[in-house]
Amino acid sequence: MQGTLAVISDIHGNVDALQAVLQDIRAQGIDRIVNLGDHLSGPLAATETAELLMNSDILSIRGNHDRQLVEQDPCDMGASDRSAHAQLQPRHLGWLRSLPPVSILPEGILLCHGTPRNDTTYWLETVLPGGQVVLKEDAQIAEELEGRASLFLCGHTHIPRRIDIGTRTILNPGSVGCPAYDDDRPVAHVMQTGTPAASYATLRPTATGWATSHHHVPYDPARMIRLAETAGRPDWVHALRHGRAR
Ligand SMILES: [Fe+2]
Repeated sequence: MQGTLAVISDIHGNVDALQAVLQDIRAQGIDRIVNLGDHLSGPLAATETAELLMNSDILSIRGNHDRQLVEQDPCDMGASDRSAHAQLQPRHLGWLRSLPPVSILPEGILLCHGTPRNDTTYWLETVLPGGQVVLKEDAQIAEELEGRASLFLCGHTHIPRRIDIGTRTILNPGSVGCPAYDDDRPVAHVMQTGTPAASYATLRPTATGWATSHHHVPYDPARMIRLAETAGRPDWVHALRHGRAR
């Protein structure tokens, strides 16, 4: 569709979810796709995902896990990064190294993973000391706005959301391949969408602002669940099956 852009993020090695999303995007006649990072980390199909992305014309930027995969010693990596790293060959790591942390499109769209300045900051949500995840106040979100873009695309939290502050829109498409996870930083908390479906978003400019849609595509997660089981990751199995953290 002329002028419409698809945005994907946080694939995390789930190539079957990615294939389902790409098919759904193509079925709408959309041929421009941007991808906000965390492509490979996880116990799933890191190599297949890398090959697909490297051989596509999808514009990809780098997420925090993509950075960690090329910066950290495997001994220091978390279990998900280590699983992906063990699958990857030098050409895949070279591709990750080549990705920019931020990209700006000519039509005034900024792509980042966390925020424009930081790939590990949750832009739209905050974690309270008790672990509850809540929407940030507008003023706190506005602090991270940078430059003159009218649309900011971010990922990282895996939670699909749109926020408007004045004339500026911030959109998180959600995660293609990992619908729920737990983390112990800044304090123990869970992020969960409540659906195993693969998420992405589409957007187009209108005379009165950006028209955006969130999409949730069901797919068969059986092969990815088997990979998670083989890797000894019941947390991933549960997330892929239910869209919820255990
Ligand atoms: Fe991330």
